[in-house]
Amino acid sequence: MALIDPRNRLIDYLRVSVTDRCNLACTYCKPRGRITVLPHGEILRYEEIHRLVSVSASLGISHVRITGGEPLVRRGILPFIASLRDIAGIEDISVTTNGVLLEEMASGLRDAGIARLNISLDSLDPKRFAGITGSDAWHKVWRGIEAAERCGFDPIKINMVPVKGVNDDEVVAFARLTVDRRIHVRFIEFMPIGANDRWHTDSCVPAGEIRKAIEKVFGPLEAADHGKGAGPSQNYRIPGGQGVIGFIAPITKHFCESCRRLRLTADGKIRPCLLSDTEIDIKSPLRGGCNDAELERLLRVALEIKPERHYVTESPGGCTARTMSRIGG
Ligand code: 5AD
Repeated sequence: MALIDPRNRLIDYLRVSVTDRCNLACTYCKPRGRITVLPHGEILRYEEIHRLVSVSASLGISHVRITGGEPLVRRGILPFIASLRDIAGIEDISVTTNGVLLEEMASGLRDAGIARLNISLDSLDPKRFAGITGSDAWHKVWRGIEAAERCGFDPIKINMVPVKGVNDDEVVAFARLTVDRRIHVRFIEFMPIGANDRWHTDSCVPAGEIRKAIEKVFGPLEAADHGKGAGPSQNYRIPGGQGVIGFIAPITKHFCESCRRLRLTADGKIRPCLLSDTEIDIKSPLRGGCNDAELERLLRVALEIKPERHYVTESPGGCTARTMSRIGG
């Protein structure tokens, strides 16, 4: 079974946000003072998510990524993740986390069946980290990354979003992490998501510029294997380096034509495109007692309305209404 959208894209990847809550408040994701969290009743229960994932799997979804908010803050997350393993057709489950709770949860995540981990980290400087996230948890995150290395996650990917004038002077230091560690460092171009007042074209550092800054120090990068789950990342290596450097360039080189994703938001909406607010409500039918055939129909409608591409470069003012913390990373 395969899910193919009307533009001939194979859709096999569902990103599931299990909560909009987060133990950090990064300026670009969950702007402080402006954000309230959803009441618990608005958030899908684990059984509801499990059912939707099962139906999705029966249609052809094989990869699920658990996101938030911060997924590790939701109570019962480890047994929930383990329960997804039993769904026929789900071959790969991964997690995106900010790493704050990783030190204590890394081995539990391994036991729950997670092998691949993405960790978001925007600064290697604890003070600057505090400025971006509103938290002094940098050392905790770092110990979490080390715990993940000890537990044998492979790969461990560190996502870094360079923002001009904020942390773009750290791209070389992040790249250097790959010299003698097996981790992947991925630079993601800053996108205008739920942050009208913050994002402007100049704050996004183009992937080409990041690469140039890195090559100035380390010399030409070598092309590296795409690897499982690389998705839209263009991967390279510092010659002789252990790890991988990836560039994700949704702004300067969008990859919409090869997008394989759907998203499920914590409040039960199917969101076919990160950068479009068009969504399908799945919670009301779920709670209204609909059958699986209706859920299948709604998933197929989501494919029908999945935009051909995003248009944020044409109209950068047209950011998404939802913040990233509400969409799910
Ligand atoms: N632009 C680019 N990346 C973002 N992320 C969150 N908000 C943005 C944005 N506006 C990243 C996070 C996380 C990943 C899931 O998405 O840093 O690593």
